[in-house]
Amino acid sequence: MPEHISINASTVDPVVAEALAAIAAAPDIAALRASRNATVGEQSAIAKLNAALKNLPHEEKAAAGALIGQARGELNAAFAAREAELSKADEVAKLAAESVDVTAAAVPAGIGARHPLSLLQDQISDIFVGMGWEIAEGPELESEWFNFDALNFDVDHPARAMQDTFFVDPVDSHLVLRTHTSPVQVRSLLERELPVYVLCPGRVFRTDELDATHTPVFHQVEGLAIDKGLTMADLRGTLEHFARAMFGEEAKIRLRPSFFPFTEPSAELDVWHPGAKGGARWVEWGGCGMVNPNVLRAAGIDAEQFQGFAFGMGIERTLMFRNGVLDMHDMVEADVRFSQQFGVVL
Ligand code: DAH
Repeated sequence: MPEHISINASTVDPVVAEALAAIAAAPDIAALRASRNATVGEQSAIAKLNAALKNLPHEEKAAAGALIGQARGELNAAFAAREAELSKADEVAKLAAESVDVTAAAVPAGIGARHPLSLLQDQISDIFVGMGWEIAEGPELESEWFNFDALNFDVDHPARAMQDTFFVDPVDSHLVLRTHTSPVQVRSLLERELPVYVLCPGRVFRTDELDATHTPVFHQVEGLAIDKGLTMADLRGTLEHFARAMFGEEAKIRLRPSFFPFTEPSAELDVWHPGAKGGARWVEWGGCGMVNPNVLRAAGIDAEQFQGFAFGMGIERTLMFRNGVLDMHDMVEADVRFSQQFGVVL
């Protein structure tokens, strides 16, 4: 004989109160759903009371059934309300977590850094633009005539072989990858009105193997000034200003006699580098001289009336001794950590 449970307000109310408390206490939608069975489902206290209805004496069944039906209705409604409330909270939390603050300061994407060779090239250009010079450009694929002949290199001149040239197929195209920026001298004289004061930074090519101090592709900067009455004193003054702007006020220059077919007289240029690693010292920096009248004539200029000076130096080499870069590979490999040390990080 099953146990007789009386079903009335005093047995139903605490069951309802406990289930309502459990529903209200569910912290989130997942916990609420997991508790469904225990609060309103098959395993719940109210479901058990409901199952006990069948054991009641006939005359009690109607009232007890109504009481339980009402309680179940109340619990289901409470469950649904809490479910709606929690799923709304869940959605709000998700939106908050995924929100983007469009007013926040952007975090740098770390796309790179300017290459120190470009920075140095710009810095050199600025020094000369500051003196009223113009920036000139010429092609990297150059005709042999501009690269050698117009610069007074004889066909059999040893200097032609001295610069290890990349000749371009077919040989009778007479094209080369320019071995220096000096051909821009002649191009500038052909293209511009006199007087001419131009600086030409650019890429040049020689058949060298890449090692700690050589690279087959490198950069030079060429200067050319053609005017009336320019002398070697003007060359000296210009180079001195350039050296000080590059290496500091204590920098000075020294010229040693040398030979280039396109200048006469010609000189090697040394710079006294006060900030050199291991102490101030003389460093070989480039070549220079008074422009050979033959070069002026190749550009159709009256060499009796106009004269001037030219100079040229390597940008890689300048960066190496100015900033203590020991290995050419660092400049060629484009590792962003190398470039970042020079300051302009994007
Ligand atoms: N073009 C020379 C070279 O590549 C450098 C040079 C020397 C340039 C003397 C000049 C100059 O303008 O006057 O070795």
